[in-house]
Amino acid sequence: MDILLLGSGGREDALAWRLRQSPSCTRLLAVPGNPGIARWAQCVIIDPCDPRAVVDLARDENIDLVVVGPEAPLVAGVADALRGAGIAVFGPSAAAAQLEGSKGFTKDLCRAHGIPTASYVRVERMSDARAALGRFGLPVVIKADGLAAGKGVTVAMTRAEAEAAIDAEGDGPLVIEEFLEGEEASLFALVDGATAVALASAQDHKRVGEGDTGPNTGGMGAYAPAPVLTPKLEQRTMDEIVRPTARALADAGTPFSGILYAGLMLTAEGPKLIEYNVRFGDPECEAIMPLVEGDFAGLLHAVATGRLAEIDPPRLSGKHAMTVIVAARGYPGSPEAGGLIGEIEAAEQIEGVTVFHAGTALGEQGLVAKGGRVLAVTAVADSFAKARARVYRAVDQIDFADGFHRRDIGWRELEREGA
Ligand code: AMP
Ligand code: GLY
Repeated sequence: MDILLLGSGGREDALAWRLRQSPSCTRLLAVPGNPGIARWAQCVIIDPCDPRAVVDLARDENIDLVVVGPEAPLVAGVADALRGAGIAVFGPSAAAAQLEGSKGFTKDLCRAHGIPTASYVRVERMSDARAALGRFGLPVVIKADGLAAGKGVTVAMTRAEAEAAIDAEGDGPLVIEEFLEGEEASLFALVDGATAVALASAQDHKRVGEGDTGPNTGGMGAYAPAPVLTPKLEQRTMDEIVRPTARALADAGTPFSGILYAGLMLTAEGPKLIEYNVRFGDPECEAIMPLVEGDFAGLLHAVATGRLAEIDPPRLSGKHAMTVIVAARGYPGSPEAGGLIGEIEAAEQIEGVTVFHAGTALGEQGLVAKGGRVLAVTAVADSFAKARARVYRAVDQIDFADGFHRRDIGWRELEREGA
């Protein structure tokens, strides 16, 4: 099977690495890729959000399966264009991608189908938003309703803070919702129409600073599985949240196909949906890929061709993996580009370690930083503690003077295991 992967981050490097090891993968192309992905795939520089260009490339190269990494091509309708051209694609239609693109769409779907989530109101105007505040206690959550990549969300502790957040967003669609208390975890499920199968759980660390402080980022580190999402809670999440969502979209004539990422709050009443994403998480994907056994490419092809119900469910190794992001100084504000990176090979000498490239480029002197999140250092081991020890040994090998990382990835799990 010849495969084309869209994207250029750490998530796509991990997907490329895992696809390349799949028995059914004969050739791998990546658009546009990065220097890490180039280790496993042939990189082609076209715009991954241009439906026509992607279809043309897939046709010219006789591609059997297109795997879409990030959300932007999905929202731009790239999966629809490929399906329309008769090319198998792992990734939802633009209509189903609204689960991520519009928070209001998802909240309304939850309400209509009794899916557990925070109670909410949708408003269009600033004055309505201010008026709606009176219906909520404190803290209260204010969200801009659009593709916000983890931004545009304010957890306001006081009424004044909530009003300031509303003023800052101005007129335009907002969701105001009840604050949920609990621990966050994510569940990744393969969905093919009305069929949904859990793949793996993970826990991300979204704040830039240790102890979960400072501004939100795309994610500073993750581990998988997330033991806090016990088998029983995972089952409940599938039955109460993921499957009803898949059925609702299928019944509406806009079936979901691809990976559905449920961001959950594990509350005293059970798991509640915070948000959906319609793609793998980054860096959760980097921590999940080393755990997936079997023919991963074949699995994605089965989803893309509507055969998920017919094949064996995905298997995980039972091991633990952790990813630590090394970011360029200044991230998430204005990261410094161009810092030299060395000793990746030394880090990869450590058993179980792979260094995925998130934002790198090849400069005249060698590998340099190109984005906010630069490297996704990943280690797999028999236990959570061993994976954590390994990943930090690997991070310490890397020579990147302009970089920084969080030293406390997995702190919740560490506290639980210590208790
Ligand atoms: P979102 O972009 O919807 O994932 O929100 C970003 C982050 O805000 C989440 O990961 C949570 O930490 C927090 N958050 C969002 N909604 C809620 C809520 N209803 N209750 C508590 N925390 C929330
Ligand atoms: N790591 C969070 C995300 O991918 O949205």
